[in-house]
Amino acid sequence: MIPIKNLKFLIIAFILLFPAASKAQKVDAAKEFKSAALQTSYMLTEISNTDTSKGVVSPRTFENGKFKMEPPSDWTSGFFPGILWFLYEYTKNEKWLDEAKKFTAKIEKEQYNKTTHDLGFMIYCSYGNAYRLTKDENYKKVIIQAARSLSTRFNEKAGVLRSWDHNKEKWEYPVIIDNMMNLELLFEVTKLTGDSSFYNIAISHANHTMKNHYRPDYSSYHLVDYDPETGAVIKKVTVQGYSDESAWARGQAWGLYGFTMCYRETHDKKYLVQAQNIARFIFTNPNLPKDLIPYWDYNDPAIPNAPRDVSAATITASALYELATYCKGSDYRQKADIILRNLSEKYKAPINTNGDFILLHSTGHKPAKSEIDVPIIYADYYYLEALLRSKGLSNYQDRTH
Ligand code: GLY
Repeated sequence: MIPIKNLKFLIIAFILLFPAASKAQKVDAAKEFKSAALQTSYMLTEISNTDTSKGVVSPRTFENGKFKMEPPSDWTSGFFPGILWFLYEYTKNEKWLDEAKKFTAKIEKEQYNKTTHDLGFMIYCSYGNAYRLTKDENYKKVIIQAARSLSTRFNEKAGVLRSWDHNKEKWEYPVIIDNMMNLELLFEVTKLTGDSSFYNIAISHANHTMKNHYRPDYSSYHLVDYDPETGAVIKKVTVQGYSDESAWARGQAWGLYGFTMCYRETHDKKYLVQAQNIARFIFTNPNLPKDLIPYWDYNDPAIPNAPRDVSAATITASALYELATYCKGSDYRQKADIILRNLSEKYKAPINTNGDFILLHSTGHKPAKSEIDVPIIYADYYYLEALLRSKGLSNYQDRTH
């Protein structure tokens, strides 16, 4: 038995020490930006040594010992320019501004691309950050055109934007959870133009996704196939996850980020509640490791011998910093701090290795045996965004409600 006096002392000591303990959880953003900048400098050299004669412009991954770059039309083409904008934002070093401008310009023609829903990723992560940081009208024009192109993929009957055009024999009108991320571009362009049609498409897509993509436990299906004539749901399946009924980790992260962003843009409480419910699914999941870096799918029976997906962790951390601003008294910020600290301590690529990506251990498309346990550009993008958000340097409007 501990005497009452000693017990009191222990409790007081814990209360006094707790702020220090929680402070120790925090990542050192200045140190991480310094190392990210160094690694990215090496990546620029890697790019200049790469054969780009086939039109590749943007790094994507380092797989099987090879540095891989993609053409402007790849869904990941906007992330590297975005990373350069983030480095400029944090360091204010003109070197990054010049590189950011150069790599952003390489994907300009994608503003007219009507064959993919990924235009939000491609244009908003590149031109969106470019316009936010420079207010250059030329960037604004590209963003507006991209929203027009993306809007052509909206079907009134189904109430959603079509995700993919490929595999027409498999699906009628496929919508993947990732598509929530592309709505940010539409919300932004309503603000830039005053044309509410983009906003209306975004909320229709979000509402249908909330209704049709989510299970009672607030985990998300990967793909919902709609009948474009009637709007009826035909089937709910997976492409990148373990099984149709499983919870693919990155999909849960896209949803968390997407609904948090929808709340920011609309102030509609139902999106906030949805984001909170998704966060609860993630953080009460028995298969979430102690370091909060998820396995690639929460339901892979191979866990704990399954690959992690660091990209899911970085997207989640970035979303949590924003969600925390809407949920005073929550532990979302602490969770994001823990994720960033663990990533910075245990998941970073040593400098000038692994294609000079910042983080290791992401999983792109396991069922296709592609990009398993590798560095991936979008993991790095959301890592830097989360680091900026951890410092209150935000690329979203931190609104008070
Ligand atoms: N949007 C594609 C992916 O998350 O892999």
